[in-house]
Amino acid sequence: MLSRRERLRFVASGTALAIGVVLALVAAHTPKDAVASEPPGELMRTGPTSMFARGTLGPALRALAQPYGVRLGSAVNSEALLRDPPYAEVLAREFGTVTAEDAMKWGRLEPSRGVYNWTPADQLVNFAARNGQQVYGHTLVWHEATPAWLTADELPRQEAADLLSGHITDVVTHFRGKVWAWDVVNEPLEADGSVRETLWSRSLGPDYIAQALRLARAADPSVRLFINDFGIEGVNQKSDALYAMVQRWRAAGVPIDGIGFQTHTTTSRGLPRSFVANLKRFAALGLDLAITEADVRMPLPVTPDLLETQAKIYGDAVRACLAVSQCVSFTVWGFSDRYSWVPTVHADAGAACVLDADLSPKPAYAALTSAFPMRSAG
Ligand code: G3I
Repeated sequence: MLSRRERLRFVASGTALAIGVVLALVAAHTPKDAVASEPPGELMRTGPTSMFARGTLGPALRALAQPYGVRLGSAVNSEALLRDPPYAEVLAREFGTVTAEDAMKWGRLEPSRGVYNWTPADQLVNFAARNGQQVYGHTLVWHEATPAWLTADELPRQEAADLLSGHITDVVTHFRGKVWAWDVVNEPLEADGSVRETLWSRSLGPDYIAQALRLARAADPSVRLFINDFGIEGVNQKSDALYAMVQRWRAAGVPIDGIGFQTHTTTSRGLPRSFVANLKRFAALGLDLAITEADVRMPLPVTPDLLETQAKIYGDAVRACLAVSQCVSFTVWGFSDRYSWVPTVHADAGAACVLDADLSPKPAYAALTSAFPMRSAG
């Protein structure tokens, strides 16, 4: 028996396909110079002339996703938000939920112990409020992006507990009512499903994760609490371990509301065949699901075939989310190749986003559009 969302998606997919073809043709055959005569750098300074800036081509992604109960979002580069008006314009138009790519990480929020720099994160929160967007909090506890004063491999138990409690309480309290969900702990597991060795696991044991969830809940009774990781998209040793942990947490009354599936992939790797089955089994635990960091990097130079492969993967990722009614959010990890994290980490790869460096749509954008069959708000 198809769910209402699945029935609708099936029936309307013909319409969407036609739209997708048109958009893909336009996107694939709109040569960059047809969009703007200035070189990209000039484009940004002289104001937007990409098709987005002219605002045409049908409903925005956020509008297509909303009737399905899916928050369509993007990670946000704080600098670009401040210094690149065309970037901010596309962000406001296309996305209904935003995630601070870096501004809410421990190292950025609390550069000195007990001294917070709320400004970059508050700028995003205020931007979101002005543009009717929700904010997804990323992330309270992670083994990366930690402040320079917190580099110990292990601390005495009580000191670690006090630090964890202090940071989570301060941050969740500051953003109470302004954030709809938190990545309470980011990337807690190793590929084999064991709890990753971090300052927190060494100082407090593996139960630090449950401790963090309880601290976040105590600070904000209404925000949705997620655990976020990569490599858990398919049914595998890592996702099996997380599934068992969630079962134990639920049985023990540990507050957890959702799982974030980062969904970073490549044009050669694609998505696991067991993606939908895996999403469904986590949903059956009574959890919300979020695709939290979708991007599809490719070897360079970019080719039309690689762009088409990328588009298919993005579309399949959205269709996987739509196949499970508890998938309530689909976020891309940056929407423009101009600011993607990928080239800074993967020297031989890039072009991972749905818009190119000129903010022009790639076939992947069209694929997202056509993956949400047109539908009026329910
Ligand atoms: O802001 C400083 C700048 O002042 C300085 O000049 C520059 C050079 O040192 O560094 C800048 O900070 C960088 C920051 O991004 C902001 O651009 C950090 O070095 C750099 O490490 C940081 O990278 C981020 C990375 O997480 C580590 O925090 C990426 O932008 C971000 O996309 C990436 O995102 C992660 C998710 O949080 C978790 N899942 C994986 C994903 C990709 O790695």
